[in-house]
Amino acid sequence: MSHGTEPKPLTARRSPGLSGTAIIPGDKSVSHRALIFGALTVGETRISGLLEGEDILATAAAMRAFGASVKREDETWVIHGVGVGGFGEPDDVIDCGNAGTGVRLIMGSMATTPITATFTGDASLRRRPMGRILDPLALFGTRFMGRDGGLLPLTVKGAMNPVPIEYTLPMASAQVKSAVLLAGLNAPGETIVIEPEATRDHTERMLRGVGASVVGEDLPEGQGIRLTGQPELVPSEIAVPRDPSSAAFPVAAALMVPGSEIFVPNISLNPTRAGLYQTLADMGADIGREGAREEGGEPVADLRVRHSALTGIEVPPERAPSMIDEYPMLACIAAFAEGTTVMRGIEELRVKESDRIAATVAGLRANGVDVEEHQDGMTVHGRGADGVPGGGTVETHIDHRIAMSFLCMGLATKEPITVDDASPIATSFPQFERLMAELGAVLTRDNRK
Ligand code: S3P
Repeated sequence: MSHGTEPKPLTARRSPGLSGTAIIPGDKSVSHRALIFGALTVGETRISGLLEGEDILATAAAMRAFGASVKREDETWVIHGVGVGGFGEPDDVIDCGNAGTGVRLIMGSMATTPITATFTGDASLRRRPMGRILDPLALFGTRFMGRDGGLLPLTVKGAMNPVPIEYTLPMASAQVKSAVLLAGLNAPGETIVIEPEATRDHTERMLRGVGASVVGEDLPEGQGIRLTGQPELVPSEIAVPRDPSSAAFPVAAALMVPGSEIFVPNISLNPTRAGLYQTLADMGADIGREGAREEGGEPVADLRVRHSALTGIEVPPERAPSMIDEYPMLACIAAFAEGTTVMRGIEELRVKESDRIAATVAGLRANGVDVEEHQDGMTVHGRGADGVPGGGTVETHIDHRIAMSFLCMGLATKEPITVDDASPIATSFPQFERLMAELGAVLTRDNRK
């Protein structure tokens, strides 16, 4: 895993037009959920297209520690689960590595089973707030012992006699919503989550796919999600769609590098995830959507992306949940636009794998881009398609998306961009370096400017 390994600096250099086909790995959000639902189902769940990044492998190991059999057979992951309420007590600490989604969903999935488990993670995960899930899980009767401020390492004592809850999300967070729904699975009666702003809905879609009753209703405070507890989940075949958040990197690189045209097949364009693609279209990006269809319960399409002249815009703050992981990349793209790009309403970025507002602002400034930092966002002053200096070194703060964003940017800046540690990329997109090189990107371990 990336924590504890030697930092791996990597340099991106001005590249010729990118071309070819980019085969993107499986969606990270859906992959975590596929493994957890498989473990909560008695019988055989078969998963194709699973992301084999470090975050997901940590979740697979956790499911084994709770008693499920999780094996890779050729290209398929096969799980024999233990059923809702069937988790056994792990005999060691669960290490979720860099994965906030992994640890929060797994804690939810065991919170209403009377077992005790201790969780930890890498230096990035040990800084991230867990109080946001401990508060609702405590309402089920779950107890916790952790560091001050609800930080990992943390021990969870699952509720002996869980009660169902009604909970209104205090922030737009699919992880919190999902932790509550997963805990609600083993509580008798109805658990209701109310979300004032829509967040990614993979948990609800997948719960329905394995036979749980999940009903949506419009309420004055937002969208209500009503789950009936203690269902018997049915074994299924899960086809994981390709990750739109990972696709954002080659797509961005093609938009920024003159002369590029690439094809990116089979990308999930679930409306709760596709905000970046709408925003890029609003900026004038030439991204064709071909063959729109449904696969594995998710809307997908093939993307054809050409280098484009872009214009800065004000990104609507209400779009934030549907592109929350894409702002570092968007801020780098905005440097190549004419005019100013304003991104507000994204304070959640401060509690991701790193403080992504601070890390992005520092990276842009180190590369000659004028940017203002706000508590809830950033404003980037574009320098036009051929006006971005580069030449800086970017601190990645154990954050895969900061590393990939600035490596893509460095393919189009006048001078190279170095990231101090590319190793976290393996958490979500292990084939990034090879895939980008195959498109024509110049990425080198030699960091000479
Ligand atoms: C995720 C939800 C998002 C996102 C993360 C994955 C998920 O976090 O940033 O990368 O799979 O549920 P929120 O909890 O802020 O929605």
